[in-house]
Amino acid sequence: MTPPTPPTAPTSPTVATPTRSGFVRSLVGKKVIMAVTGVILFLFVVGHLAGNLKVFEGPADFNAYAEGLRTVGAPFLARGQLLWAVRAVLLVSVLLHIWAAIAVTRASWAARPIGYHALTRTETTYAARTMRWGGVIIFLYVIYHLLDLTFGAVNPSFVPGDVYHNLVASFERWPVSAVYIAAVIVVGLHIDHGLWSAFQTLGLNRPPTFRWRRGIAAAIAVLITAGYVAIPVAVLTGTVR
Ligand code: HEM
Repeated sequence: MTPPTPPTAPTSPTVATPTRSGFVRSLVGKKVIMAVTGVILFLFVVGHLAGNLKVFEGPADFNAYAEGLRTVGAPFLARGQLLWAVRAVLLVSVLLHIWAAIAVTRASWAARPIGYHALTRTETTYAARTMRWGGVIIFLYVIYHLLDLTFGAVNPSFVPGDVYHNLVASFERWPVSAVYIAAVIVVGLHIDHGLWSAFQTLGLNRPPTFRWRRGIAAAIAVLITAGYVAIPVAVLTGTVR
């Protein structure tokens, strides 16, 4: 006779163990990647503005600042080493930000196969479309901007190392200044909605931040845009020359 099988402990319902790849594949995971890389890019935009405003201190200080970026960490680090590390972080952030944005967009399209055209356009869909187009415009702008002030390919009189001169030479042409102004307004709109939704993704949508989220995001975006707009305007009006 076979012995009776001992009673087994009741099994608990299966709970999926979260894995790192599962997190990256999930919609929330992609939104967190977008928020974190967005914050890194935002910090760059703020730091870049702070540095660019030194143009108002004159050519010597501005060029010294640009040269200082290349010699940070000397004598422990080789010339440009830290700058290249920052560039690498920026590049990876941009690529991940774009990848996550495309993935989130696809997921939202897949979730509504009928399309929104039959429905009333909501604030969310309007903001999402603005963000997508804004992202594409900013991407194209940064390529032009690098060709203008970093590589000099589209700059009318590029002098390596004379960042002040290159900036003035470029912004003296009003159509170029107009493009820069339009682009930084798009950057401002992107930051406005990006900050607002990053607050949400990162869990800052509870009191007390909940009430201030909209206003804080808008105020930061306006300040950043105004700071950037001031530079081409200063060149066009002759304050910086
Ligand atoms: C009026 C607005 C702006 C001005 C005057 C400006 C000025 C400059 C200058 C002078 C450089 C060359 C720096 C150097 O060679 O040392 C530069 C590089 C760069 N700018 Fe801007 N910038 C502006 C807006 C922006 C915005 C809005 C973004 C991003 C969305 C941006 C992204 C970059 C990047 C990625 C580089 C290359 C940095 C590097 O690799 O060294 N810029 N910018």
